[in-house]
Amino acid sequence: MHSPRLLLLNGPNLNLLGERETAIYGTKTLAELEQSLKHEAESLGYELICKQTNSEGDFVDLIQTHRIGMPIQVSGLIINPAAYTHTSVAIRDAVLASRLPTVEVHISQLAKREVFRQKSLISDVVLGTVSGFGLYGYTLALLALVNHLEDV
Ligand code: DQA
Repeated sequence: MHSPRLLLLNGPNLNLLGERETAIYGTKTLAELEQSLKHEAESLGYELICKQTNSEGDFVDLIQTHRIGMPIQVSGLIINPAAYTHTSVAIRDAVLASRLPTVEVHISQLAKREVFRQKSLISDVVLGTVSGFGLYGYTLALLALVNHLEDV
């Protein structure tokens, strides 16, 4: 029997981690982040599937593909919808429709940034939000999701 799966979805411009606004988002690349998170998940007994897309529709499709009842079953979601966090009713609806326990993560501390980043359309439909701890926030999100899955 293989390990239970979790899905990490990163949104637009996060493929440019390591070169984009490094003072805010750091110097590690997305590939490096994904690799270390996969190892961390594995050590907790989970397989982590990692995807990134710049497109809102693809983000919705990826959530739908892994929703409860689909063949590629995952036990939970970690999402950083990036700029779509502040605009996307479609991603919010997809998270709700998936019925998957979901943790939202942001690298930067949204509360300290521009006013337009301070509203998340996602936060009230997820288990919780991690924001402001840099890339370490993904580890925190993983730990929080696993704790939730094993606590219920
Ligand atoms: C972000 C914050 C968003 O406002 C921004 O558009 C991003 C990244 C973060 O991880 O801090 O692209 O989600």
